[in-house]
Amino acid sequence: MPRGRPALPPALLPFAAMTDIRPEDRRPQRIAVVPGDGIGKDVTVEAVKVLQAAIERFALPIELEHFPWSADHYLATGVTMPPDQLERWRQDYAAIFMGAFGDPRVPDNKHAADILLGTRFGLDLYINFRPVTVYDERLCPLKDKTRAQVDFVVFRENTEGAYVSVGGTFKKGTADEVAVQEEIHTRKGVERIVRAAFEYAASRGKKKVCMADKSNVMQHAHGLWQRVFKLVAAEYPAIEASHLYVDALTLLMVREPESFEVIVTNNMFGDIVTDLAAALQGGLGVAASANTHPGRTSMYEPVHGSGPKLAGKGLANPVGAVLTAALMLGDLGHAEAAQAVEDAVAESLRARQCTADVGGTWSTSAVGDLLARAVAGK
Ligand SMILES: NC(=O)c1ccc[n+]([C@@H]2O[C@H](COP(=O)([O-])OP(=O)(O)OC[C@H]3O[C@@H](n4cnc5c(N)ncnc54)[C@H](O)[C@@H]3O)[C@@H](O)[C@H]2O)c1
Repeated sequence: MPRGRPALPPALLPFAAMTDIRPEDRRPQRIAVVPGDGIGKDVTVEAVKVLQAAIERFALPIELEHFPWSADHYLATGVTMPPDQLERWRQDYAAIFMGAFGDPRVPDNKHAADILLGTRFGLDLYINFRPVTVYDERLCPLKDKTRAQVDFVVFRENTEGAYVSVGGTFKKGTADEVAVQEEIHTRKGVERIVRAAFEYAASRGKKKVCMADKSNVMQHAHGLWQRVFKLVAAEYPAIEASHLYVDALTLLMVREPESFEVIVTNNMFGDIVTDLAAALQGGLGVAASANTHPGRTSMYEPVHGSGPKLAGKGLANPVGAVLTAALMLGDLGHAEAAQAVEDAVAESLRARQCTADVGGTWSTSAVGDLLARAVAGK
């Protein structure tokens, strides 16, 4: 067991799941911090302020270590990430906290593919967990929907599907060009994400799991999802298992978000529907995510990208990154600290002490300072 990482139960229970950390695990938990590009840097600085406040107030056994992997570093050195980096993180770090990646100077996004997708795939972080919570009802764009009606989580498969970059082109650049991009879905890959969704539901007293696919068209790949979903669902008779085609899912997420408690879907559809879900809770600036594999070093990142137009201007909302830090604290066994961070965010949004994207006038760093003070109990 790597240093400082608590023994997780067989099925991961993200978000403040580990109610307490055992005394023998109160060794330093090392966290790798990788701010990345653009507003990734802006929001990570603020999330780290809040983390430091939580570390001090709750005497958490956490050490933060910064890593420079980013477009700037790649352009200066030609290196996206050292070849042994993932193995070092896997061996010696309890978690990785990332900002965002994407820079117009790197049009093929090579560094983002190596660092972000490389970490997801290399560490086999098959669960992309995205909670959807409305911290202040004024932020939800749906008419007459209450906080309680927009409250669900999405389990997105994170290591397969359309993101494996299998394919190629023929006669590239000509009028006869052909492009092929394959999706990969394995029995193992589908089963473990579906099981994670049911385990989460069972452990949280949730009653419903909905699987979304496009099996009417993608008969082979999504037919596998159908069969595996039914098999796993049969093991959880107390949970209502339902299915929607992804187009119907998007419609119902807007019209009847209260229908959902846990949604599970493939990599591509999960990417898309979680941006819609982020809109329901107030936008990309407030959406958090975890990339996890039970018992292994996991990676935490806000849902948003590098927002090049906002970068360095004090306009980026740090709340998504701060809530992501809360997710991480919860998974690492620090439920009380995670709750304090979440409470501070909720209070700041209700008081409109926030950035312009969520109706405030505050700068990125002013919000970070406020949240850090609140978590510190000052
Ligand atoms: N996980 C990641 O690292 C990730 C995710 C998505 C996109 N990207 C990359 O980011 C770059 C920009 O992509 P994009 O514009 O499609 O997505 P984006 O998330 O950067 O921005 C989309 C929109 O949301 C706004 N926004 C995003 N985060 C915000 C925040 N914290 N506060 C306030 N407003 C916020 C932006 O201003 C923009 O209008 C691209 O290079 C893309 O590849 C990276």
